[in-house]
Amino acid sequence: MRDKEAENVRLRRGNNRWKDEAEPEFIRRLESNIMSAGNVVGIYYPEERTAGGYVVYQAEPEELEKPLAERIPPTPLRHYYGYKDGKWHDDLYISMGLSDTRALRKVLADDQFELPGERILEFGCSAGRLLRHFENEAKEAEAWGVDLHSSGIHWAQEHLSPPFHFFTNSTVPHLPFEDGYFGLIFAGSVWTHIGELDDAWLLELRRILRPGGRIYITISDENTLAEIKRLQPDQASNQHVAELDAATGMLSQDYVQFVTRSTPWLQRSVYNREAWLRRISGWLDVKIARPNAYGWQTGILLEKRPS
Ligand SMILES: C[S@@+](CC[C@H](N)C(=O)[O-])C[C@H]1O[C@@H](n2cnc3c(N)ncnc32)[C@H](O)[C@@H]1O
Repeated sequence: MRDKEAENVRLRRGNNRWKDEAEPEFIRRLESNIMSAGNVVGIYYPEERTAGGYVVYQAEPEELEKPLAERIPPTPLRHYYGYKDGKWHDDLYISMGLSDTRALRKVLADDQFELPGERILEFGCSAGRLLRHFENEAKEAEAWGVDLHSSGIHWAQEHLSPPFHFFTNSTVPHLPFEDGYFGLIFAGSVWTHIGELDDAWLLELRRILRPGGRIYITISDENTLAEIKRLQPDQASNQHVAELDAATGMLSQDYVQFVTRSTPWLQRSVYNREAWLRRISGWLDVKIARPNAYGWQTGILLEKRPS
């Protein structure tokens, strides 16, 4: 009997918890809890919604008359690329993207990898800052971009397609392509944000890469940590590393990886390059590791072994 009463109290409390909530607030809080739960997969960054829903707008016709390189996304979709001295610089957004892709092209050329005719995927493309510089290649073979940020993807779909293809993916390590579909997959500053699922994602990219194809990803490693300290001692990430080190002592130990903070966007992943490459070299051949290839990040070129 007492158990029954206790159960009733529990249920009443449970019901009261939900009863007075206005539905949109409740759902918004639920969504924000889900997005900030570092250990939940199958999430993506949704569009801003009004109480009635959301809209995806077409590009202005005059925007589409501009060359691809001059179609610049609104500032909230730029992920701080081109933001300097308190201002947004359109030209910097473009020139930095161009120089990051030149560094990628140089790594491919140094490995004698020929790009024309290869299907390309940019993983974590945001609003197409890098992919837009592969216009010529996209005329010869499909070039795709995917990202968790649906608003950046929607902008890219309306402004950069054709020739490029885009869609929103989730944190589940799966992409809807058949095995061996791409010749080149690249990801600039994405492995810097992926925590525990990094291996699952790498193996998924390997699955959709053709034998003999290349994966190029940029990572933060010991060189990156030293560069940030040297060039920007006031950068917040120095503080995040120091806080984790104070809690764990990792910097004086043999770590493989550490991740500061949480959520797919805020978290920052750092590898001990040698230890990490040793692990992944069981799955892909490491062709080139180039420090400072993407700002202070190291560019890593991998090949799927021809079968
Ligand atoms: C620092 S931005 C780099 C954007 C772009 N690669 C560039 O260089 O301009 C990192 C991007 O990776 C995306 N990202 C992180 N984890 C991802 C995942 N699991 N799948 C797809 N995109 C992801 C983020 O949404 C973000 O747009």
